[in-house]
Amino acid sequence: MHVLITGGSSGIGAATALAYARTGADVTITYNTGADRAAEVVKRIEEAGARGAAVHLDLEDHDTIGPAVERAGPVDALVANAVRWGSVQPGGVSFEDVPPAEWSAAMHANVVGNALLVRAALPGMRRKGWGRIVFVSSGIGEEGVPGPGPYGTAKMALHGMARALAWEAGRDGVLVNVAVAGLTITGVRAFPQEVLDRLAARTPSRRLSTADDMAALIVFLGSAANRNLTGEIIRDGSNAGRSAHAL
Ligand SMILES: NC(=O)c1ccc[n+]([C@@H]2O[C@H](COP(=O)([O-])OP(=O)(O)OC[C@H]3O[C@@H](n4cnc5c(N)ncnc54)[C@H](OP(=O)(O)O)[C@@H]3O)[C@@H](O)[C@H]2O)c1
Repeated sequence: MHVLITGGSSGIGAATALAYARTGADVTITYNTGADRAAEVVKRIEEAGARGAAVHLDLEDHDTIGPAVERAGPVDALVANAVRWGSVQPGGVSFEDVPPAEWSAAMHANVVGNALLVRAALPGMRRKGWGRIVFVSSGIGEEGVPGPGPYGTAKMALHGMARALAWEAGRDGVLVNVAVAGLTITGVRAFPQEVLDRLAARTPSRRLSTADDMAALIVFLGSAANRNLTGEIIRDGSNAGRSAHAL
């Protein structure tokens, strides 16, 4: 099995790469600015006994997407995890003040970029009659956090894309799902402990997930263990619900 994980140079993507490697899968990750970090992840994939590779892909530069998928070679599973976070922080700016260019950039990278990614990887899966696609989304879109409208809106577009693709590609053995992360502890971004504690208290299991927790969900959805689950939006337990951001 060969899996391609976008944004594998960091956080949830890197954890997912290592989780796949531990199952024996060959793993190709993409990086944007983090070539050195990607090389380190590849080293760890190989230490786990799997084959690893890293290719450059920038969702903002659509010309990089097809060539990156081509360099990766035929893939059985695709994890669309990379994200252009954008400049709008939760609560940081009112809706009217989000610049039009920010809306365009978020859609260009996170929606059209991911559509082109799937467009490049899907024909190989169809030919094999087997494939798995997992989009990594965020509770921010569903919960409606004030501020990051473009980011959350783009994530919700991926839900629509996944459901359309599930119907489109299902007849060729390709299952497509969305793994929705809540606030996930990746070690990359630091949040005040008090905020983490308050969010954790509002989750069903009273704890926030780690990158490894998300990786386990993604690997399940994107492997043969997932036998016929498709078109589903699966929320990780770190999603704290609608009231979480009224903090
Ligand atoms: N962590 C959370 O709390 C959380 C919550 C909800 C949803 N999520 C979702 O989970 C996924 C991973 O998040 P994370 O926290 O692991 O993020 P992260 O640590 O910031 O990693 C983001 C990854 O995306 C890549 N990337 C950034 N801009 C890109 C671009 N323009 N083109 C291609 N790749 C690009 C980065 O590559 P380089 O570093 O090489 O530039 C990096 O590998 C994202 O889809 C995010 O929306 C995360």
